[in-house]
Amino acid sequence: VTSGPTFEPLDPVRFLGNRSSGKQGHAIAEALALAGAQVTLVSGPVSEPPPRFVETVRIGTAQEMLDACLKALPVDIAVCAAAVADFRPEDVADKKIKKSGKDPMTVKLVQNPDILATLSQSNQRPKLVVGFAAETNDGMENAKAKLAKKGCDWLVLNDVGGGKVFGQENNIITLLKQNGSAETWPEMGKREVARGLVAEMAKLLKA
Ligand code: C5P
Repeated sequence: VTSGPTFEPLDPVRFLGNRSSGKQGHAIAEALALAGAQVTLVSGPVSEPPPRFVETVRIGTAQEMLDACLKALPVDIAVCAAAVADFRPEDVADKKIKKSGKDPMTVKLVQNPDILATLSQSNQRPKLVVGFAAETNDGMENAKAKLAKKGCDWLVLNDVGGGKVFGQENNIITLLKQNGSAETWPEMGKREVARGLVAEMAKLLKA
């Protein structure tokens, strides 16, 4: 399970990050462990405590998250709940960047590896790969496109418009599957969402 944000350094004291709290990913890791799974949680920098009964690997950047995920293979299920930075600064200054008096300052960004897509296409592909989509607009359309593009089996869509979801206790999700089904669940706590998703996973693996 991946969870939380990634921090992409600009210099020794600054980074590009995002507002992911890690609550949903951590809850999924714990729910999987309580259901009897052996779980590795690869977590970005969060204040959420490490869940019980789970091996937690703490990382900073997207590249470190990918390395830790590949190291955890083979697995039966991969859940990518992390809010991975799509881009990182191309150059990381080894000293704190100073004001140069020049305006504007330009930071060149390069693309990070896509962990979800890499796991979905791996030759050690897990039996079930679950992605997340945090969308502020046109959620269903974006989620369907993402499911196809990334090659995962399920996609959990949540609406993060207007400060919803990130850092909140509750979540409203739509679970989309490769077979075209899309089910919107009523609003519930992130722990309950986690338990519901784990129940679905168990059903699938049993079948
Ligand atoms: O493309 P987008 O970032 O919206 O996709 C979200 C999904 O992809 C999430 O499951 C997220 O964990 C995963 N992802 C990833 N590696 C990236 C970017 C996103 O695993 N570099």
